[in-house]
Amino acid sequence: MSTLTAPLLTDVLVQHTSTRSYHSDPIPSEVLERIIEAGWRGPTSVNGQQVSLVVVQDPARRAEIAKIAGGQPWIAQAPVFITVVMDFSKTALGIEAAGQQQVIHDSVEGVMVGAVDAGITLGRLMVAAQAEGLGVVPIGGIRNDPRALIELLGLPALTFPLAGMALGYPAATAPRKPRLPLSTFRHDERYQAEGIAEAIAAYDRELFDYWQSIGRPDGQPWSQNTAAYYQSVYFPEVAPALRAQGFGFER
Ligand SMILES: Cc1cc2nc3c(=O)[nH]c(=O)nc-3n(C[C@H](O)[C@H](O)[C@H](O)COP(=O)(O)O)c2cc1C
Repeated sequence: MSTLTAPLLTDVLVQHTSTRSYHSDPIPSEVLERIIEAGWRGPTSVNGQQVSLVVVQDPARRAEIAKIAGGQPWIAQAPVFITVVMDFSKTALGIEAAGQQQVIHDSVEGVMVGAVDAGITLGRLMVAAQAEGLGVVPIGGIRNDPRALIELLGLPALTFPLAGMALGYPAATAPRKPRLPLSTFRHDERYQAEGIAEAIAAYDRELFDYWQSIGRPDGQPWSQNTAAYYQSVYFPEVAPALRAQGFGFER
């Protein structure tokens, strides 16, 4: 790649690694504005724009979010934390102005629409930040205690903090983490279930070796790491907090 030209966006995407060690240098406001604009200009389902961001730069508030997320020091260390909020309060206002009543937030479809749109926004923010030379780590850990974050950020009814992102100038960059083989990800014409169990076994060994190679003897194979989360509903406060914010998923 030439040093005289900006990296291709696809290069930025393929080089992704999460950053969990940051310098304290602030992010210049014009850089932060470009990143936020990249999120704002994204597509949304039915152009509903059911996403809002809360940008936190105050160190004490970042420390509080680090605590809410179960003790994640990189949230306090990185100079900016952005929470991506599923926001059906703006759509409700518009619908009310049109003399109608919003129902979609009381359904699985509504929560899916909000989650997909928030995910797209988060992805755009991540890539924009990385293209600006920043490091990022997405943070689902905020759903560990959603009510505390809702309180801290002053989120109104019909909104929910789905995920966040810490960003700043990286102090250390880990080598890229290997993925499950591409053959388990790309399926041509029809889903190919054959060979997946073998690919997982090979990946378990590869990921274990990766952890050893970067001096993390505590790193687990993929199957064990995933089991540690998925053998329980690891954030049990999400469903009651969603209901308390006015969402429903019985229909
Ligand atoms: C929606 C989402 C939530 C995540 N939540 C956290 C988190 O709370 N804390 C954390 O350290 N990493 C979190 N991660 C980062 C993943 O652990 C990371 O992407 C994965 O291990 C792959 O590593 P890589 O991003 O370095 O390639 C999250 C990633 C995503 C996409």
